[in-house]
Amino acid sequence: MEKAQQSGIRHISDFVDDTSDVIQLTVGEIDLPTPEKTKLAGINAIKNNFTKYTSNAGTLKLRSAISTFVGKHYGMAYDYKTEITVTVGVSEGIDLTLRTLCNAGDEIIMASPAYPAYITSTKIAGAVPVLVDTSKTDFKLTSELLENAITPKTKAVILNYPNNPTGTILSLKELAALAEVIKKNDLYVITDDVYDLLVYGDMKQAPSIVTLPDMKKRTIVLNGLSKSHSMTGWRIGYVLAPEWISKEMFKVHQTNVGGASSISQAAAVAAMSEDSDNPAKLVPIFAKRKKFITDYLEKLNIPYVKPEGAFYIFADISSFQISSWDFSIWLLKTYKLAVVPGTAFSEYAEGYIRISYAADLTTLKEAMARLESAVRSLKIFSK
Ligand SMILES: Cc1ncc(COP(=O)(O)O)c(C=O)c1O
Repeated sequence: MEKAQQSGIRHISDFVDDTSDVIQLTVGEIDLPTPEKTKLAGINAIKNNFTKYTSNAGTLKLRSAISTFVGKHYGMAYDYKTEITVTVGVSEGIDLTLRTLCNAGDEIIMASPAYPAYITSTKIAGAVPVLVDTSKTDFKLTSELLENAITPKTKAVILNYPNNPTGTILSLKELAALAEVIKKNDLYVITDDVYDLLVYGDMKQAPSIVTLPDMKKRTIVLNGLSKSHSMTGWRIGYVLAPEWISKEMFKVHQTNVGGASSISQAAAVAAMSEDSDNPAKLVPIFAKRKKFITDYLEKLNIPYVKPEGAFYIFADISSFQISSWDFSIWLLKTYKLAVVPGTAFSEYAEGYIRISYAADLTTLKEAMARLESAVRSLKIFSK
């Protein structure tokens, strides 16, 4: 574990806890509450004493609800008895998948900047993270970049689109090009689709590589309710994988966590049925916030990656010629605004900061006013 690192996102947010009057735009957590019917299902579960162990892989009711939900959204059939595992958030799904797939020394390719848990979980699994720099290709993994990173030790590729931290999405055509390389080299693909329903524009859902021909058998899909249903604290995620992989995952999952909380699982059934329209309700709210921040950044002449999904803006602060870590600490200490330095997502994101817009417009307005004061002081300073 000495070779692994604490998440840089939490590093900054832990710092914030000690500082008063700080506006926190760090952790990827929606400010809005869990939907009502979902909350009620959790309350009823407690009242009805549904408070014991469940089947390790998750209640049949929840797995069946997930199967129906993903059938509707991906247009794909997953057998709820053999191909679905309910996890303790997507976080467990990442760890579970990597521990199951990896032998010591296997290489796991990930597009970088990357969500920090991919790197740490790969190391915990005894494997080697191979970070591919996507900063020169619009933060998109291309088939060429992928092909160049493959060695005889490569076991799998991790994809995360809509992406944290950049909000980028890959089109089905771009995914198809990756799928060809993945099939040719007989690799697995782990696709973290946790933001797939939080997309802007005409799309209702981001495309997923699993839907492409012959990909289901080599794809592990990670998803969950933390983002789509404001349920970070309930800790519910799920893994979709072919039966033979799910069977092996089951051993790791059973040993490590036993299963997800019974109460949260009962709530999750309601989230996926009665409150299944919640992500669609969130999108217009986030679209407004996104427009507010991007308009403001344009006014300040700060370039940013155009987000197509999720709820982050990756802003380019390289013109200020300060490291993203120093910029973030200075912003926090001097202007009481907390953002995440790009380097929390790998060295390939130096010169960027991640601004989360999972906060209400009043908070965002004050946050941008503080950013403006900070930037103006820098400009005066550098003249
Ligand atoms: C890309 C990505 N994957 C996984 C997670 C973790 O999700 P969960 O809260 O379901 O464990 C996050 C949380 O920010 C994330 O951004």
